[in-house]
Amino acid sequence: MQERIILKAPWELEILRRSNRLVAEALQELIGMVRPGVTTLELDRFAEAYLVRRGARPAFKGYRDYPFTLCTSVNEVVVHGLPSAKPLRAGDILSLDMGAVVDGYYGDAAVTVPVGPISPEAARLLQVGRESLGRAIAATQPGARLTDISRAIQTHVEAQGCSVVRVFVGHGIGRALHEAPQIPNFVEPGQGRGPVLKPGMVLAIEPMITAGGPEVKVLEDRWTAVTVDGSLAAHFEHTVALTERGTEVLTAGDGHSG
Ligand code: MF3
Ligand code: CO
Repeated sequence: MQERIILKAPWELEILRRSNRLVAEALQELIGMVRPGVTTLELDRFAEAYLVRRGARPAFKGYRDYPFTLCTSVNEVVVHGLPSAKPLRAGDILSLDMGAVVDGYYGDAAVTVPVGPISPEAARLLQVGRESLGRAIAATQPGARLTDISRAIQTHVEAQGCSVVRVFVGHGIGRALHEAPQIPNFVEPGQGRGPVLKPGMVLAIEPMITAGGPEVKVLEDRWTAVTVDGSLAAHFEHTVALTERGTEVLTAGDGHSG
């Protein structure tokens, strides 16, 4: 049984534009800092200071006792990697996931980036992940159905020989980090088409994909989610708003999507 999807008024969208733009800008800064030798703890400290300086607060810190501003997921870590003092190495891929709260409204986005030169296989995984999010956003239109988003991701990822993770999903977002609807990155036979997409919906779409199988396990720290087969994973997330004028990527930062 799914809760109701909360539609946002134009004045609420104004605030959501600010919180999400801030996340996009912070991620841009962080991406510029990523190189071999940097630690994810340094990135986390920068991220928190960045938000606080702009009058926002980290969305993840304290959420279910999560202790950091960023999730930093390296290589086979799918999501919820904990920032650490271990330096990044050339050839790693790093997912940076960040949320911020501005005037009570949440922003959320994630991106996976190379650390120095990476293997062609890793580069390919990033490309497939980025493309799948782009296709999902293109499918996010008033009048379409929720499953159109899920299907756009799954179809592309699996056609490229990669897998879609099942146990984590995208979500509605607003005055809470996670609102209805859940947005799976896959469709199940016979599940129906899901709710019709309407202006006022704000959705955090986040494909989590692997170069191997879809199975994930959570480590002893109770956060770090890794691929069971040790294959590389990538994660891309944008928060998008449906409006009377079409679909707006709130975390694009510089006005382009995907
Ligand atoms: N982008 C993820 C999500 O929306 C990040 C959550 S991390 C947590 O679920 F710490 F807040 F759980
Ligand atoms: Co999210």
